[in-house]
Amino acid sequence: MKNIVTFAATALLSSSLASAAIPSTPAEQEKMDRFITGLMSRMTLDEKLGQLNLPPSDDIVTGQTIDSNIGAAVARGQVGGTFNIKGAEKIRDLQKIAVEKSRLGIPLLIGMDVIHGYETVFPIPLGLSCTWDMDAIERSARIAASEMSAGGICWTFSPMVDISRDPRWGRMSEGSGEDPYLGSEVARAMVRGYQGKDLGGKDDVMACVKHFALYGASEAGRDYNTVDMSRYRMYNEYFAPYKAAVDAGAGSVMSSFNLVDGIPATENKWLLDDVLRRQWDFGGFVVTDYGSIGEVAVHGLEDLPEASARSLKAGTDMDMCSFGFIGTLKKSLEEGKVTQDEIDTAVRRILEAKYKLGLFDDPYKYNDVEREKSDIYTEANRAAARAIAAKSFVLLKNEGNVLPLAKKGRVALIGPMSNSAANMPGTWSVAADKKKYKSLLQGFRDALAGKAEVVWAKGSNLYEDPALEAACTVFGNDMRDPRSEKELLDEALAVAAGADVIVAALGEATESSGESSSKTDLTLPYTQRRLLEALLATGKPVVMLNFSGRPTVLTWESANVPAILNVWFGGSEAADAIADVVFGDVNPSGKLTVSMPVNVGQIPVYYNHLNTGRPKNPADPSFQKYRSNYIDAPNEPLYPFGYGLSYTDYNYSDFHLDSDTLDSDGAVTATVTVTNTGSREGDETVQFYIRDVRGSVARPVKELKHFESVSLKPGESKTVQFRITPDDLRFYDYNLDYVAEPGEFEVMAGPDSRRLLTQKFTLK
Ligand code: BGC
Repeated sequence: MKNIVTFAATALLSSSLASAAIPSTPAEQEKMDRFITGLMSRMTLDEKLGQLNLPPSDDIVTGQTIDSNIGAAVARGQVGGTFNIKGAEKIRDLQKIAVEKSRLGIPLLIGMDVIHGYETVFPIPLGLSCTWDMDAIERSARIAASEMSAGGICWTFSPMVDISRDPRWGRMSEGSGEDPYLGSEVARAMVRGYQGKDLGGKDDVMACVKHFALYGASEAGRDYNTVDMSRYRMYNEYFAPYKAAVDAGAGSVMSSFNLVDGIPATENKWLLDDVLRRQWDFGGFVVTDYGSIGEVAVHGLEDLPEASARSLKAGTDMDMCSFGFIGTLKKSLEEGKVTQDEIDTAVRRILEAKYKLGLFDDPYKYNDVEREKSDIYTEANRAAARAIAAKSFVLLKNEGNVLPLAKKGRVALIGPMSNSAANMPGTWSVAADKKKYKSLLQGFRDALAGKAEVVWAKGSNLYEDPALEAACTVFGNDMRDPRSEKELLDEALAVAAGADVIVAALGEATESSGESSSKTDLTLPYTQRRLLEALLATGKPVVMLNFSGRPTVLTWESANVPAILNVWFGGSEAADAIADVVFGDVNPSGKLTVSMPVNVGQIPVYYNHLNTGRPKNPADPSFQKYRSNYIDAPNEPLYPFGYGLSYTDYNYSDFHLDSDTLDSDGAVTATVTVTNTGSREGDETVQFYIRDVRGSVARPVKELKHFESVSLKPGESKTVQFRITPDDLRFYDYNLDYVAEPGEFEVMAGPDSRRLLTQKFTLK
């Protein structure tokens, strides 16, 4: 029997007509179709349903894969793929079972949530987006692809492109912030980085755009919560990055946990079929999120069999961990609730993905144990991660040029984030090998070796309440100090007493953000604030490093601390990268891609909002009765979208257009001069926004439409241009037609979404 099975697998492979890449010509497409049609003609219904099944990998022990539940299911042909296993050898064992023990020898898709790097970890995606550097972002995805493919992974559950305006939602850390234009640029860059030219290379992996759709609008920022949104808002504000990723050729899409128009995304035919496949022409496959078909019943809709049938009919191809497809679709077929055609369509899409990845040519393409030894966490990859991390930090305040610090004297590094290497990489660092990473303390010591002394104290726990701290350190990154908060504080003050300058490493822990990490209080926990106040009371210069996976509320800090650098979670090389910026080897250039609120009550606060009929007069900061404003807080966030300082200063001048009219087939060029007026070389991201002054529906007060980074030496000026065409003015109108409406437009240029120069033109 064994021989027959092996023969079947070998026969399939040797008869393979696969060519390892996305077909780019009709002939190649036809070849793929023929191959898959041939394969499907040999598949039983059970084998077909097996391809649609994406179970978790469980704990596979190297050398014993065949004895694991998943190994047995793979041998029975009941598994299309699995995810989040680390180790090329282990994965090879599993693939071998699929190839040699399952009747048809169809290889598995092996996925992983590599959302900001594999072992070389880059900043969390929110931090990455603050680089505004698409080459750097693409590079980070390329390096991630090269490392994960060396580790046996061919499919990443990334990019996560959910727009979010609610920092209470912990998953904001996984996305690119609040802006559809920037989010779309990032989405494209990441897909390019992961998939390479055509998935043909052995270091190309398939992207999975998630979470389709609108997940970032979970009500009240509570994870997995309801979403309810107008189509106008979906199309104009939330859909753009998903569409951009699809247009860039992303091979797969993951549906979201939330409802869309009252129907869970996973079984929402309008979303998955009308929008994704028909309007956007998506040709890849759709996978559910973890267990979401099973959750349909909990939302108060159908039970598992019905939900599985509806999900398939809606356009879902692969069931992650609900076991609804494999467990119930056969019966649904018998009962006429789904058709053979619908099952076949889904199967074909999964097989196409495997074909495009080249797995039919070489099922072990991603199981090169030698590459695993040589291509992961290399010096070159780490150097790139360090440089990119340094670009992601946002300098929020730098009164009296406290930063950069001189490499001399005695530097006190104090705070709960100062000596915890495990808390550097940030959420979803599935493949991270944290033992290899440095703590910030080590980074500082290395940077100052032979030049200055570093003294250290923890200063406080993350939270005084151990239960709160435990909730933020769930994956074993335990950082709790058993001493009392008073003892910790006293020690810190004694250490600080002998120092020339204090660096306070404060904020959130890695798992304070990410999935299932919603928060209602975004201020610094009380014990850390008490520490910070005590450090400031020493009268020494204090620099605050804010570790965060979201915009936190820094209202008190911004009023009281001279220098604040937001360092997000910078990845495996964060410690060195932070030292690079703090001690001036790198001039910070990151800019916020989310608004940082004054307080939680302002949320949602975002720059590209619609106007009200009663806007507040911005010239008058006091409360204005019968105007749209708060009695107790400003409308504006503390730090706006696009904001970020440098160690040098820039001046914007001479903003002009080459014409004040734009023809429907023409262009207008906006030009601004940027001058480095400070004393250091720096990189400045110049931003251009547009406002459609009057539309057939209300239009945002401004929308980012272009940006460009320039390097400027002290005293140097450069002009930066934005060539505006009617395409830049298009939006989805009331009928969801994508139009540019004639009339008046404002175009703005500046260093962030608040400080802008304005010009006007008319679209004819
Ligand atoms: C998350 C996804 C992730 C999946 C697989 C889910 O809980 O929502 O983002 O890709 O798990 O790990």
